[in-house]
Amino acid sequence: MFTVTLKQSGRRFPVEPGETVLEAAQRAGIALPYSCRAGVCGSCKAILLEGQCQYPRNPPVALSGTSPAQHAVLLCQAVPCGDLLIAAREVTSVEDIARRRLEVVVTEKSALAPDVIGLRLEPAPGETRLNWLPGQYLDVLLEDGRRRPFSIAGGPRADGSIEMHVRHVAGGGFTSWVADGLRVGDRLRLEAPLGTFVPREDSERPMVFMAGGTGFAPVKAIVEHFLALGTRRPIEVYWGARNAADLYLLELARGWERSAHALRFHPVLSDPEQAAASGLRMGLVHEAVLEDLPDLSGHDVYMSGPPAMIDAGRKLFLDAGLPEERLYYDSFDYAPDVLAQILAGRAGLAHA
Ligand SMILES: Cc1cc2nc3c(=O)[nH]c(=O)nc-3n(C[C@H](O)[C@H](O)[C@H](O)COP(=O)(O)OP(=O)(O)OC[C@H]3O[C@@H](n4cnc5c(N)ncnc54)[C@H](O)[C@@H]3O)c2cc1C
Ligand code: FES
Repeated sequence: MFTVTLKQSGRRFPVEPGETVLEAAQRAGIALPYSCRAGVCGSCKAILLEGQCQYPRNPPVALSGTSPAQHAVLLCQAVPCGDLLIAAREVTSVEDIARRRLEVVVTEKSALAPDVIGLRLEPAPGETRLNWLPGQYLDVLLEDGRRRPFSIAGGPRADGSIEMHVRHVAGGGFTSWVADGLRVGDRLRLEAPLGTFVPREDSERPMVFMAGGTGFAPVKAIVEHFLALGTRRPIEVYWGARNAADLYLLELARGWERSAHALRFHPVLSDPEQAAASGLRMGLVHEAVLEDLPDLSGHDVYMSGPPAMIDAGRKLFLDAGLPEERLYYDSFDYAPDVLAQILAGRAGLAHA
C-alpha cells in the first residue's frame, strides 16, 4: 500500500494496490476535482511533485499536448507506483455530504425541447431526502451495473424533489429509453451526490458562466444559488445551442437578468439561419465569451456542456489570462464504460 500526500493541506491517504488516486481520496473522504472519470476531460489534472504513476486503465487522453516538464497527472486514472506528493485543488465544500444510493420515483416528465426531456424525481416511500451542493450530479444505476451521469438542475428543495434535463443522444441506450419508454410513476436507482462543479464562495471576483445545450442544468443550479445569496458580484451567463428551441429555458434566464442588476444573459446560436430568424447572437458560445471579455485574468469561470466546447474553453480561456485554478467545469462526456470502450477501440485500430 502506498501513501499520497497533498502538498497544500498536508493531508495524507493510503492507496490500495490497483486503485487510482481519485478512488483512494474518495474512500478517505477527501474531495479532489473530477468530472468524466475516464481520462478525457482534464478536470482532475494535478501536478506530480514526487513519485511515479502508471495508467493501466484508460490512456491519459486529457494530457496530450502537455509537456512532460509540467509533471501533470490525471487523478481519475493514475495508479501510484510508490508514495506520491501531489499539488491538487481540494474541494473541501463537498466533503461534508456523503454520497449514497437511493430509489426515486419519476413524478414529472416533460418535453423541454425536441430532444431534451425534463424530469422531476422524488425519493421513493421510505427513502430519506437527498442532500447535495448546487451543480453536483447523480449517477443513474442501470440493471447491468453500468451508470449514466446527469447533473441536478437546481439546489435541494423543501419537497425533496430533484430536477434533471436529459438530452436524447442518438443511439444512446438510456436516454432513448428516457425519451420513449420512461413513464411517470417509474422508479430509478441513483447514487449521489457526485462531482465537484460547485459554487466557490471564497472570491469577490466577477463570474462568467458558459453552458452548452443541457450544460445549462448545473449552471442554472449554481446561478440560482448565487442569486438566492443576493451576491453583488457581476455575473455574465452565456448559453449556446444550435437552434432557438434548444435554449429550452430562455425565459427563465431572461427573468434572472430582469430581477438581478448584476447579471447579464447572452443567448448564442451556432446555426446562422436560426440566429437570423430569431434575432439572437450568432456564433460559437466560447467565441462570444472571448469577444466580450478578451481579458479573463480577473474572473472566475464556470462552464459545462459538450466536450468540444469544454476543450475550447480549457485552451482559449487560459490564453485569455484566466488562471487554471479559477476555471471550474463539468464535461458532458459519455459514461466511463462507454468512453473506455471507445478508447479501447481506438487503441485496437492503432495496433491493427
Ligand atoms: C458529469 C456529467 C454530467 C452530465 N450531465 C448531463 C445532463 O445534465 N444532461 C444531459 O443531457 N447529459 C449529461 N451528461 C451526458 C450523459 O451522461 C450522456 O449523454 C449519457 O450517459 C448517455 O447515455 P446513453 O445510455 O443514452 O448513451 P450510451 O448508450 O452511453 O451511448 C452514447 C453514445 O455513444 C455511442 N457509443 C456507445 N458505445 C460505443 C462504442 N463502444 N464505440 C463507439 N460509440 C459508442 C452511442 O451510439 C451513442 O451515440 C453528463 C455527463 C457527465 C460526465
Ligand atoms: S480526465 Fe479525470 S475526471 Fe476527466
